[in-house]
Amino acid sequence: MKPYILVIGSSNTDMVVKADRLPAPGETILGGTFLMTAGGKGANQAVAAARLGGDVVFIVKVGDDIFGRQAVQSFTEEGIDTGHSIIDPVNPSGVALITVDAKAENCIVVASGANANLMPGDLYKAEDKIKNASLILMQLEIPLETVEYVAELAAQNNVRVILNPAPACALSDELLSKVSIITPNQKEAEMLTGVRITDKKSAETVAELLAEKGIETVIITLGANGALVFHGNHFDWVAAPVVNAVDTTAAGDVFNGALAVAVSEGKNLEDAVLFANTAAALSVTKMGAQASAPTRREVESFN
Ligand code: RIB
Repeated sequence: MKPYILVIGSSNTDMVVKADRLPAPGETILGGTFLMTAGGKGANQAVAAARLGGDVVFIVKVGDDIFGRQAVQSFTEEGIDTGHSIIDPVNPSGVALITVDAKAENCIVVASGANANLMPGDLYKAEDKIKNASLILMQLEIPLETVEYVAELAAQNNVRVILNPAPACALSDELLSKVSIITPNQKEAEMLTGVRITDKKSAETVAELLAEKGIETVIITLGANGALVFHGNHFDWVAAPVVNAVDTTAAGDVFNGALAVAVSEGKNLEDAVLFANTAAALSVTKMGAQASAPTRREVESFN
């Protein structure tokens, strides 16, 4: 069987407005043009991995509506195996409302719809896909019990799991002990450990605390400041390329998709994170989530 990366996660349609700044509570501001584009952390990661040359199987649950059908069709056009995707007859496809400010920062509200209904029972038919994956990549826009079920099955079958703990929520030690690589951003790492990151030292402390849960590799992504890697009792700071950012939406997703590809190709950790940092940096130079995921050629020709 050909090795493949299994991504299990969400798909959303993103409704994006660029504005000078993010609105305060109760405030209406006038923004720029409206963009409707494909998103969802799981889908963004699956598409990023496929564009970078990964053989990707994506398990997703969408509504029985135009958004869901379009999404699954576009995954297929990206060369992703969607044979195990599920149509939810009751709940609509996920939607995200996104505002992006002049500094390329965003705020996002998600109506999860069918994503919140992707339950372990939906995956029973895909058990063999889980057991035989070369790597599994998950995030937290689907129910935690589903993530826990997959991590358990993966652990029983010695399949490595990359967990991108986004959006952040409390995670059990049991789940964390089954994760091979965890990839929080600064806020997620702080939430998982209860420790604030204010400088390099505190970031390293946070990485150590996560590793103590039994996670082999901790990668804290720090946007323009690159990424901190903690593996085998060793810290490595991997710089991010300097780019002109217009929209940071999905930068973390592109990082994770790229990381999964690089790790499954057997790149060493430092090279894998450098590859992922470059892919993420390229993604912030364009608007949109999946719309901004770069190709392999774009990453390799970037310098
Ligand atoms: O990580 C970015 C993604 O978060 C967006 O595409 C949006 O759909 C939300 O899931």
